[in-house]
Amino acid sequence: MSSIKHVAIIMDGNGRWASRRFRPRIWGHVRGSSVVSDIVKAADDQGLKALTLYAFSTENWSRPLDEVSTLFRLLKKFLLKEKQRILINNIKFKVIGEVQNLPQETIELIKEVELLTVNATGLHLTFAFNYGGRAEIVRATNSFFESNPNKAMTEDDLSSALYRPETGDVDLMIRTGGEQRISNFMLWQMAYAELYFTPTKWPDFTPTEFKKIIERVSIRERRFGNVNSQTALGQSLEKAELNKSVYGKGANL
Ligand code: FPP
Repeated sequence: MSSIKHVAIIMDGNGRWASRRFRPRIWGHVRGSSVVSDIVKAADDQGLKALTLYAFSTENWSRPLDEVSTLFRLLKKFLLKEKQRILINNIKFKVIGEVQNLPQETIELIKEVELLTVNATGLHLTFAFNYGGRAEIVRATNSFFESNPNKAMTEDDLSSALYRPETGDVDLMIRTGGEQRISNFMLWQMAYAELYFTPTKWPDFTPTEFKKIIERVSIRERRFGNVNSQTALGQSLEKAELNKSVYGKGANL
């Protein structure tokens, strides 16, 4: 059975994907949003417990206005289009981030889908929207001390005060688009996550690649800070093999 239960994805590369096709950047986001539907389905098929997708960071406000409003529009469109499928598949949906800064009708739609799925027992699907990892930790800390002014905070206390504590730690973080950064995403939850960076741009990302990454990563023994030379050697060999199969002969991460 796979040890990968919670996957978080930075869906990067939409703009470059579109520019290479001489199309406006927003075209990449439009294509990218249809990939979101495919990957949600694949995550469900794979039996994952949680899938968290980084759809809009607090830094993304600095993008051109039409790009920002396209991303808001795509979120709304996705929810309207997928609401039924989310319900039928018993998916528990939530948006994490500073949702109050979004357009009112989008806030209402988010609340509606969250409420409709509040008792769902299947995949926990989370969109990080207007989200920042540091801001989440600061918010959680402030909220803890507001209720517990005289108590010393523990790691469990902080974990419980995050936006969506029930999804727990991230087991695997995938970033598409070739950059190797975590960009202020799920900083607390990713303390022991396996990190996987693929050059594939998000609009080209497929359920097949997604499943392949999960399979390959789940056979690595996860050591959580322990040292085991046998395992370390096995991991390097497995990693070299994986690089070869994904990036071609001689490739190295
Ligand atoms: C990064 O690509 C991607 C984003 C900032 C947004 C991700 C959004 C989607 C995949 C579509 C939204 C879908 C829903 C359902 C909300 P980039 O534009 O930074 O790409 P670049 O690095 O090539 O410029």
